[in-house]
Amino acid sequence: MDMAQRETWTSRVGFIFAAVGSAVGLGNIWSFPFQTASNGGAAFLVVYLLAVFLIGFPTMLIEFVIGRRSKQNAVSAFSELGYGNWTFAGVIGVFASFITLSFYSVVGGWVLNYIVGSVTGGYLGDASTFFGSVSSGTVAVAAHAVFMAITIAIVAGGVADGIERATKFMIPAILVLLAGLAVWGSTLSGASAGYAYYLSPDFGVIATNFTSIVPSAMGQAFFTLSLGFGVMVAYASYLGRDDSLPGDSAIIVVLNTIVALLAGFAVFPILAATDALTGSTGAGTAFVALAGAFGQLPAGRIIGFVFFVVLLFAALSSSISLLEAPASYVVDSYDTERWKVAVGVGVVAFLLGIVPAYGYVGLFNDFVFNILLPIAVLFIALFAGWIYGGEAVDELGRGTSLGRGAMTAWLWWVRVVVPIVVAYTLWLGVTNFYAGLVNGAYF
Ligand code: TRP
Repeated sequence: MDMAQRETWTSRVGFIFAAVGSAVGLGNIWSFPFQTASNGGAAFLVVYLLAVFLIGFPTMLIEFVIGRRSKQNAVSAFSELGYGNWTFAGVIGVFASFITLSFYSVVGGWVLNYIVGSVTGGYLGDASTFFGSVSSGTVAVAAHAVFMAITIAIVAGGVADGIERATKFMIPAILVLLAGLAVWGSTLSGASAGYAYYLSPDFGVIATNFTSIVPSAMGQAFFTLSLGFGVMVAYASYLGRDDSLPGDSAIIVVLNTIVALLAGFAVFPILAATDALTGSTGAGTAFVALAGAFGQLPAGRIIGFVFFVVLLFAALSSSISLLEAPASYVVDSYDTERWKVAVGVGVVAFLLGIVPAYGYVGLFNDFVFNILLPIAVLFIALFAGWIYGGEAVDELGRGTSLGRGAMTAWLWWVRVVVPIVVAYTLWLGVTNFYAGLVNGAYF
């Protein structure tokens, strides 16, 4: 979106599409199956759904309230509201966008490699060997460079709006393709083991792995809903006063959840049918499963090609937004030409991304999920609950038919429950991340 002009959304649907477009991406189709597989399947799913609805949903309302009230992006919003010394909370989000861009582009590069693999038939034989050969090393760096170059070109060329309009078609396409794969997967022999792993929670697993499931599930919830980055603040800054924030937010959260759940319904039966369950495929979970499926389907290469092209669009619509956040910040602070900044910031993110492209995607991913996002959300919740308080309730109340009681419940939830849960998550996340660093889990 062009941050230079300030119009309001021409329609409520336009806003919802933009927000869903930001939310739906590699987080749903790559990260969600990967996190679920690595954290015990349904045990993770239960905690994740609680995180999305009990913490993510109210947090999205905070970002919407701040954005609509201030009519500013997340960095200038706080001073506009009269609390300039909270600007750092917006800056953390910009920083999170930058770090995320560096590894998101690496995964975007994997998608490019899978598009090529659909043409050449490269992944038809052994799907996990193919993943191994493209996911790290020089091939991965080259594809990461191409993905970042496309992202930079779109942002620098000022054509991001066009791409974002295109995502309107991409979301239905993703839904149809995933649903088709899910139906096909259900016919595979062995699929039931996949459903069992995905859907029937073992509460013993939740109990034993609680301290690792919680930070991953919460991080995944924030990441997939694009919370903590300040993008939802920026989107809501274009909203008219008479839209219902809880109503819009509910639609966005539910649609985003449907896409992720569908991805799981496609991935897990296929994994089970190919004996690749139980998390051994790690970050490759979705790619290995889907490529394995395309290898067996009639016209699989064509379907695979279409699927990965659609996924590329979903990834690009996210990456351009991830680049725009830090780029606009630099443009505002230093008054330089926009295209130069887009190139500069993009190149630095590319260089940083060389590290994850050599096999450290998990490290970057966990740093964002376990540390940056909980910190960002913790601060905006404390701000909304304790500093902005009553005015936040006022803003939330505009355009909704919900009563005063619901507003007050939200305020107290944001004051007490969200900060306590997120602070606890952060503590677990930092502890796990540190443990991973010293016990060699990342290296
Ligand atoms: N939610 C996106 C996804 O699931 C990723 C994302 C996180 C994002 N923060 C963002 C996208 C900011 C755009 C802007 O893939």
